Amino acid sequence: MTSKTIRVGLVGCGFYAQNHLHAWRDLKNEGALLSAVCDVDPTKAKAAGEAFGVPWYSDVGQMLDSQPLEAVDIVTRQDTHRALAEITISRGIATIVQKPFAPTWEDATAIVDTARKAGVWLAVHENFRYQAPLRAIRKAIDSGAIGEPNWARIAFRTGYDVYSTQPYFYEEERFAIADVGVHVLDVARFLLGDVARISCETQRRNPKVKGEDTATMMLRHDRGAVSVVECTYEARRADDPFPETMMEIEGTRGSIIVSAGTRMKVTSDGMASEHDIGVRLLPWTSYPWHVSQEGALGACRHFLDCLQRGMPAETNGEDNLRTFALVDAAYVAAAEHRSVVPRKWP
Ligand SMILES: NC(=O)c1ccc[n+]([C@@H]2O[C@H](COP(=O)([O-])OP(=O)(O)OC[C@H]3O[C@@H](n4cnc5c(N)ncnc54)[C@H](O)[C@@H]3O)[C@@H](O)[C@H]2O)c1
Repeated sequence: MTSKTIRVGLVGCGFYAQNHLHAWRDLKNEGALLSAVCDVDPTKAKAAGEAFGVPWYSDVGQMLDSQPLEAVDIVTRQDTHRALAEITISRGIATIVQKPFAPTWEDATAIVDTARKAGVWLAVHENFRYQAPLRAIRKAIDSGAIGEPNWARIAFRTGYDVYSTQPYFYEEERFAIADVGVHVLDVARFLLGDVARISCETQRRNPKVKGEDTATMMLRHDRGAVSVVECTYEARRADDPFPETMMEIEGTRGSIIVSAGTRMKVTSDGMASEHDIGVRLLPWTSYPWHVSQEGALGACRHFLDCLQRGMPAETNGEDNLRTFALVDAAYVAAAEHRSVVPRKWP
């Protein structure tokens, strides 16, 4: 059976969009048809259009007027997400928005509300949970090998130079939690379920950045588990695991320990086994970003499959608001030195 073709337009041809462009091209045999690209910077739009053999535009309205598209993938930075999503949603086009969903809760909920009222499919490209190692960890939990998970430490700790490719990080008032904490908090939800309350301590260890570059958070999950969720761009370590997520999960029957090099040790009823949950290099991916790049491909594949089957994405707008609420709650918790109940929508 041939899969339904989904014509995809991409908006924002900057640093991370290159991974989305490759991902959509890789998914051609599965039904994705990358059909147009757009960037307000015509040099970037032209470069992407020529590299991927599709028409390019510097105005999103022009792209949508000229191209019949089933989906638009918005890979701009958060400040433009709401305005762009409102345009694509108003035209009834399925919309994917990169993380962070939006700068504020008001913007993020407005996007979800607009899509819901218009009956338009909406997803957030929150990609950590689509990485192959994360899927393997979730599968190990679902197998029942460790019983009911009741404690975890989930950590993204690196000193890798992220500033050379994303210089805008220096200026972010809300930095590490909003940028990468959002991924790790989403992983905590993905593995242990929704969260009843959160506390948080932040640090600014690099004097050159405006916002926090380090956060240590503690979560009580609805099902009773407790997790410590950490993120930093200021860890000075040999064998820096960037961009892997390290973790320890304990349950009623055993544990899962994930160490650098995506090695997973599962202990179940006293018996230990080791698994390589590593990621392969694709022709367009390169070390060490390949873990993240493969996650972007996994996310796009999931969105394509959902669009073809008419299903909501795992990381649909409503779902991602629950992760976004944790980010907001972490900032309040850090500022007010208390644990905070995350907001709910609607
Ligand atoms: N692991 C991940 O998923 C991951 C990793 C890195 C970045 N990101 C996210 O990807 C997003 C983009 O980050 P980046 O580093 O690629 O940024 P970038 O600045 O390199 O690229 C953004 C592009 O959007 C374009 N743009 C801005 N407004 C536009 C508009 N109205 N219409 C069309 N184009 C417009 C800009 O000209 C620029 O080329 C951010 O939200 C970032 O957090 C995600």
